[in-house]
This record gives sequence, C-alpha cells and structure tokens, in this order.
Amino acid sequence: MELAGKRIVLGVTGGIAAYKAAELVRLLRAEGASVQVVMSDAATHFVTPVTFQALSGKPVFSDQWDPRVASNMAHIDLSREAHTLLVAPASADFLAKLAHGLADDLLSTLALARDCPLLVAPAMNRQMWENPATRRNVATLRGDGVVILGPASGDQACGESGPGRMLEPAEIVAELVAHFQPKRLAGRRVLLTAGPTFEAIDPVRGITNLSSGRMGYAIARAAREAGAEVTLVSGPVSLACPPGVTRVPVTSALEMHAAVHRHVRDADVFVAVAAVADYRPARPLTEKIKKGGQAQAPTIDLVLNPDILAEVAALPDPPLCVGFAAESERLAEYAESKRRSKKIPLIAGNLIQDGFAGDSNRLILFDDEGQHPLPPASKLQLARQLVERIGQLLERRR
Ligand code: PMT
Repeated sequence: MELAGKRIVLGVTGGIAAYKAAELVRLLRAEGASVQVVMSDAATHFVTPVTFQALSGKPVFSDQWDPRVASNMAHIDLSREAHTLLVAPASADFLAKLAHGLADDLLSTLALARDCPLLVAPAMNRQMWENPATRRNVATLRGDGVVILGPASGDQACGESGPGRMLEPAEIVAELVAHFQPKRLAGRRVLLTAGPTFEAIDPVRGITNLSSGRMGYAIARAAREAGAEVTLVSGPVSLACPPGVTRVPVTSALEMHAAVHRHVRDADVFVAVAAVADYRPARPLTEKIKKGGQAQAPTIDLVLNPDILAEVAALPDPPLCVGFAAESERLAEYAESKRRSKKIPLIAGNLIQDGFAGDSNRLILFDDEGQHPLPPASKLQLARQLVERIGQLLERRR
C-alpha cells in the first residue's frame, strides 16, 4: 500500500482517455489512497459520474454550484484536505485554462484555489500537443511548479501516431508514489548495474545466472523517486524500465564494463547490483557446437572478466561506490572481505536464498560504522532504505 493515508483529488477532463481514469481510480484505491473525483462538464460526455462514484466510493462533483456542498464553496472544501490534485486526463483546453489562471468551472476553480501540489497527465492529439500554444502553456505550467506527467508517444484514438497519449494508469500511480518520496538524492546522478550477464559459448548457448534484475531495478526506481537522474546498465531481464530511468541494455560482462565506463564520469554514485559472470568462454564459437558423435565432451576454456566495481572504485575521483554480495554462508565475513578488497565504502550483503529472483529480500549493510541489518521487506522498501543510507554517506562526503 504505497499511498496509504493519502487523499487525492482526481480531476477528469474531456477526452477519450477519460475511460482510463476509471482504472486509475481503482489502482489508486488499491494502493490505499482515498480518491475524490471531480469531472469537467466535457468529461461527463465520455464517462458517466456513476462509474467514478462506484469505483471511488464517493459522490462525484462537476458543478460549481452543487447544492450538496453546504457552504457553496465547493472549490475550497474539496481540495482543503487533499495531499495532491491530480488531473488525468488533462486536455489541451484545460492546460490552457490552468496556464492562464482561468476559473470558469468547478475543476479549474479548484485548481486555482488549491493549497497542495498539482500534477497533470496531458492527453490529446499529436498536433494539439505540438501546437506552439500548448508548448507555451506547458512551459508556463512547469515554471509555476506544476508537475507534467508524460505524455507518452504512440497510436492515438484519432488514428494518428505520435506524442500526446496519456501515460498508462499504472505509470501515473508510480509517478504519484515517487512524488511523495523524500528527495534525498535531488540533483545527484546515479549509475547502476543490474541483472545477470550472458557469456556466449556459441550462437545459442551461454553461461548466465538466476538474477532477475528485481533488486537493481528497485534501487533504480527508489533513486529516481529520491530525485536522482538515473542510468541503469541492465543485463538481459524481462522487467519494464522504471519510469524516468534511462536504461542501457547489455548482454555480456564486457558490454556491461564498456557501458559503465561510458557513463561513470558523470556519476555521483555507482551501485553495482548485477550478478556479473566472473569468467567468460575464451573463444566463443560463431557456429553451433555439434554433438556429432564426439567420443569426449568438449572442453570450454574460460578467461577472467574485468571486475567492474573494483575498477570504478580505483578511478582517480570515483563516485560513491556501493557493492552487493550474494552469499550462501558466512555472509558477514564474505561481504566485509569483498568491501575491503574492492575498496568501497558500502556493501549490501544478502543470502542467495533471500536475494535471488523473488520480490522480497533481507539485507545487511556493511560500512565503516559497522553492520546495519535491514529486516525482510519488499525489494522496493529495502531499496528506499539503501537510498537513504547512500544519501547520508553523500552528505558526509561533502
Ligand atoms: O536480480 P535479483 O533476482 O533481484 O537478485 C539480486 C541479487 C541477489 C543478484 C543482488 O542482490 C546481489 O547480491 N548482487 C551481487 C551478486 C554477487 O554476489 O556479486 P559478486 O560477489 O560476484 O560481486 C560482488 C560485487 O562486485 C557486486 O556488486 C557485483 O556487481 C560486482 N562485480 C562482480 C564481478 C565483476 N566482474 N564485476 C563487478 O562489478
């Protein structure tokens, strides 16, 4: 429940994406938020208030003069206790109203009279989004501190394709969750590695491991939520890239090594979560190995891969380096010895049975001040605690 206790006023304006706002209400409530829906008149032509009432469990408002509000000051009453006003979808017309401070219906009045952050998820036709008037309005809104979510690019209801699609409801919820996180790493650049590597033996076979990428992706998301600019060098996994994170996909340890060196110069923090293969086949074959009646099984010669983390830590002006250690026994001893041999200030130790593949984990952080156990939790919750610790260490480095 990422939004437990949060009170969200959801404004819905007129556009075909209004139907997706119904799913958005459902997802917000599933995360523990209470949702008060306010619709523009145009929105009621796309979806009826009854749908939102059923999903939110609250009466829906769209009329500025609604007699249900005792004082007739609905615009103030509705947003008085809200933590956030979220408008999704936000039409081009509504963005224009917001940018110019117009207040000629309930939702625009509520936005002008609000005392809480405003997030908008634009949704419109490609040409409307690219129109100079909309560009100006969006720039004005950004300057006013309004958070613009998306839009995405893709097929549009009008049959065209391009920028202007509303973000998917799950993406909007993720952005809202991020919005509420403390900005521990604001202005910082974080580089991460995540997932396994795949070392080719021949065109169809290789050496890899069971890392799913979940721990690394959770840290990328948590760092982004904390306000960092995040680059994620990822081995082959089947996870969606966290919103706002730049992903650099790689396959082998050598590719991961090259990608890290391309991006590390700008980084304030480097977090090595990847389970990098220590060795790779010395001579990967370009043709598939044939079983072909050989009397003896073939031998594969291996050579050592570069240690990406140790190399980054040895740079003349290294970022704050954070390692991971997955062990099957003697966790404290092995993790601490990796921290010392790689000369890094912080390492997160986890047991293989806890760490690999699942959604939860248990970590012990080792640094110069000793051990800090983080009890079992979801990988995202642990990632947020790790980000908090990284933020503290960065502060001390100043
Ligand atoms: O991906 P998940 O399924 O969520 O699983 C997460 C995880 C268990 C893979 C993760 O939590 C974890 O522990 N990752 C490190 C795995 C490990 O034991 O790495 P290592 O002992 O081989 O390496 C120690 C550190 O050096 C790691 O930070 C590793 O990224 C880094 N390293 C290792 C070898 C190498 N050639 N280059 C490196 O950068």
